[in-house]
Amino acid sequence: MGKLSGGIYHNDTALINLQSIVFKKFILGNQLHPDCFPMLRYLDAFLVKQSVALYCSMGKENNPSYDISDLCGVTTSGGTESILLACLCARNYWYQMNPLLKTRNQKLKIIMPESAHAAFYKASSYFNMECCLLPLTNDYVANVNLLESYIKKNKGTVCLLVSSAPNFPYGTTDPFAMFNSMSLKYGIPWHIDCCLGSYLNPFLQDTSIKPSFATLNCWSLSTDLHKYGYSAKGVSVLLSRNKNYRAYQYYKQTNWNGGLYGSPTLAGSRPGALVAVAAFTMLHIGLNGYKKCGFEISDSVIELKKFVSNGITVKLENGTIIQNPLKILGDPKVCVVAFTFKYSDESCYFLGDILAKKFGYHLSPLQKPAALHYALTRLSCTKENIERFEKCLIESLKEYYEKKLEAKEKGELKQNDGDTAALYGVAGSTVTAGVAGKVIETFLDVLYE
Ligand SMILES: Cc1ncc(COP(=O)(O)O)c(C=O)c1O
Repeated sequence: MGKLSGGIYHNDTALINLQSIVFKKFILGNQLHPDCFPMLRYLDAFLVKQSVALYCSMGKENNPSYDISDLCGVTTSGGTESILLACLCARNYWYQMNPLLKTRNQKLKIIMPESAHAAFYKASSYFNMECCLLPLTNDYVANVNLLESYIKKNKGTVCLLVSSAPNFPYGTTDPFAMFNSMSLKYGIPWHIDCCLGSYLNPFLQDTSIKPSFATLNCWSLSTDLHKYGYSAKGVSVLLSRNKNYRAYQYYKQTNWNGGLYGSPTLAGSRPGALVAVAAFTMLHIGLNGYKKCGFEISDSVIELKKFVSNGITVKLENGTIIQNPLKILGDPKVCVVAFTFKYSDESCYFLGDILAKKFGYHLSPLQKPAALHYALTRLSCTKENIERFEKCLIESLKEYYEKKLEAKEKGELKQNDGDTAALYGVAGSTVTAGVAGKVIETFLDVLYE
C-alpha cells in the first residue's frame, strides 16, 4: 500500500462502494443530452460551482467588491482535456482580438515554465501553437524575471501565460505575482494549472502558494477531480473568469444536416456516470474531509523533505559511513517531493530501480535533472508507509553503494546503472534522441497487441 507515486489516490472501501452504486445508477447518462438527464446536468453544474467556491476561498474578505458570480467553468475528461481547452480558448480569443494574426495564419505562443505539463506541448501541436519555455530558477520555479522580455520578444503573438500550482516534476508552485502583473499589463490570458494541486490547494496553510480567483487576475484554472478530488478516473474541471471568455472554447455548428450542434468540450457524448460519481464523492468527503487529507499529505511532504535532506545515514559493510547523499529539488509544499544525488556522478535511476525491484516502491523518473519523484496520496501519507519508505530508501542506498564498490573492486570503470538509466541516456543524447521517440511509439503499439 502506498508504494506507487501518485496513480491511485485512495483506497477507501466505503467511498469505492458508494462510487460503484452511483456509477451503476447513471451508467447510461450522457451530458450531450441534458434534456434526457436533468439530474446529470444539475450534478455537472454542482461540481463547477463547488470548484469555483473552493478556488475563491481566499481573499474575498480583503476584496469586498469581488463578485464571484462571473466565474464559471465546465467539466472535462481529465487534466489533459482541461489544458487542451484552456489553450484552445486562449488561441481563439487572441485571434478574435487580433484578426490580422488570424488572416496571416500566425502561430500563437504559449509562454510556460520548463516544468509545465506535457499536455501544453500536446495542445500546441494539436492547435498549431508554439511553446516558449521560461527557464527555471535554482528553486525549480519559473524564472519570472524573464517573463516580460519573453512577451516583448514575441511582439503581440503571445496568447497565453501558464504557471503551475504545483508542477508535476518537482511539486513546486510558480510564484504568482509576476504572472498576475504581466497578464494585467498586456491583457494576455493567464492559466494556472492546478490539475495536480486540485483539491489540496484550497486548504494550504501557506497563502503564498494558494491560488484564488479573488486575489489573482487569472483567466482560467484547471483542477482534477480524479486526483485529490478522489473521484474515479475521467473527471476534471476547467474554470474560467467569465462566460464571455469561456465561450471561446465552445464548438458551435449551425449548418449541419443533423441540426444545431454545440459542445463545450472536446468530446461529443460524455460519460455522465463519471460526473455523478465525482459529485457524490465530493459530497461524501466534504470540506472537512478534503481539509484533513490535505493536512495529512502536506505533513508527510514536510517529514519526507526533512528526512531526505538531513536524516540519512548509510553504513556500508566495510565500515564507511555516508551521510545525507541526497538533496530535494526546490521547496515543494503540496504533494510531490523530488530528489536526486548531491553529486552528478551518481545515478538516481539506478537507485530508483533498486527501490522498485527490492522494495516495490515505484517512484517516477525525471529528466533535467535526472531525479526521482514521489507523489504522496492518501495511501502513502500514512505514518506507517513514510517510516517504511525511509527504511527502504536507506537500504536501497546501501545496496547502491555496495554495488558501486563491487564494480570498482572488479576493475570495472562504471557500474551497470540499469535499464532506466539506459533509457534516459538514449533520450538525453542529441545523437539518439530520435530513438527515444521510437521507443515511446513501440510502447504505445504494444499496449494494443
Ligand atoms: C500538473 C499537472 N497538469 C496536468 C496533468 C495531466 O492530467 P491528466 O493525466 O489527468 O490528463 C497532470 C498529471 O499528472 C499534472 O500533474
